[in-house]
Amino acid sequence: MTETLVINSTQPDPTILRRAAEVLRAGGLVAFPTETVYGLGANALDAAAVQRIFDAKGRPATNPVIVHVAEAKDVAAIASDWPRAAEALAARFWPGPLTLVLPKRTIVPEIVTAGGPTVAVRCPAHPVASALIREAGVPVAAPSANRSTELSPTRAEHVLKSLNGRIDVLLDGGPCTGGIESTVVDVTGEVLRVLRPGLVSVPMLEAVVGRVLVGEGSEAIARSPGRMLKHYSPRAKVLLFDTNEAASRAWNADPRAAWLSFGEAGTVAMPTEAEAYAARLYDEFHRLDDRGIETVMVTLPPGAPEWIAIRDRLQKAAVRE
Ligand code: TXA
Ligand code: MG
Repeated sequence: MTETLVINSTQPDPTILRRAAEVLRAGGLVAFPTETVYGLGANALDAAAVQRIFDAKGRPATNPVIVHVAEAKDVAAIASDWPRAAEALAARFWPGPLTLVLPKRTIVPEIVTAGGPTVAVRCPAHPVASALIREAGVPVAAPSANRSTELSPTRAEHVLKSLNGRIDVLLDGGPCTGGIESTVVDVTGEVLRVLRPGLVSVPMLEAVVGRVLVGEGSEAIARSPGRMLKHYSPRAKVLLFDTNEAASRAWNADPRAAWLSFGEAGTVAMPTEAEAYAARLYDEFHRLDDRGIETVMVTLPPGAPEWIAIRDRLQKAAVRE
């Protein structure tokens, strides 16, 4: 049984936080809201607890998980190096939707990093996430709180739909404002590499650290299995179109399909501003799945840099196998 506890998202109740933190310290699983999507948390230093995350999600052991800390200074306990670029990025974007890949310390169990030499670390901004980690007093490993390859949850109901009974406690703090996952940046090499585009856009990163590589290469894929093709997928078949005209033609030919248009009337008119689009995307996909829609036409947003993360998620959502 999953115990769902409703919690205020701006001023979380300390009694509820204490209860959830206890479950984490005892090796249990707690799903909680972050500013991106809901996470499925366990004590990152407890290999058996982290194993339970992999079991609950059906996640392949080859896909490492992100470790969440309450403050930047807590990184020192789990990472053996803190390059200048990490310092600059953390100073600008933490707490927030940015994950930094750093060399790991031996205290971090192999299962967290999928046996690799690096650990991905994020300091979330959501008051519930932040207070929970602080109260637990341990770093918290947390992938998105959904079964592997499925859509990430942006509401507590989405978590239950996917994982009810597989987790101990769910903190229901209402909808996540960001709507898509954090940006993952590898800061271990000479050149910074974006392994997964996300809410902190490439132009935002480059304003702080100069040029970054956006890893479309096979190397980046091997290093961050979140880039495996099928991922972030609704149940419905997703078909992508470059223009509203092309999408509307296909939609007219299939009376049962839905259409997420770019800024004009489809089944859903999606926002033409990237932040607002991200905040709604998964929520709309979840809604269409709940209605039993089998096919979704989507008009792709433009190719401009601020849309990279959204185009990435749409492209992955459209992969069938
Ligand atoms: O916004 C987010 O990042 C959410 C919330 C809960 O924080 N978490 C999330 O976790 O999206 P997950 O596990 O669904 O995605 C983590 C991504 C995956 O692409 C994974 O492969 C990558 O981060 N990753 C984790 N550890 C890594 C490492 N050591 N090196 C490279 N990539 C890593
Ligand atoms: Mg995920």
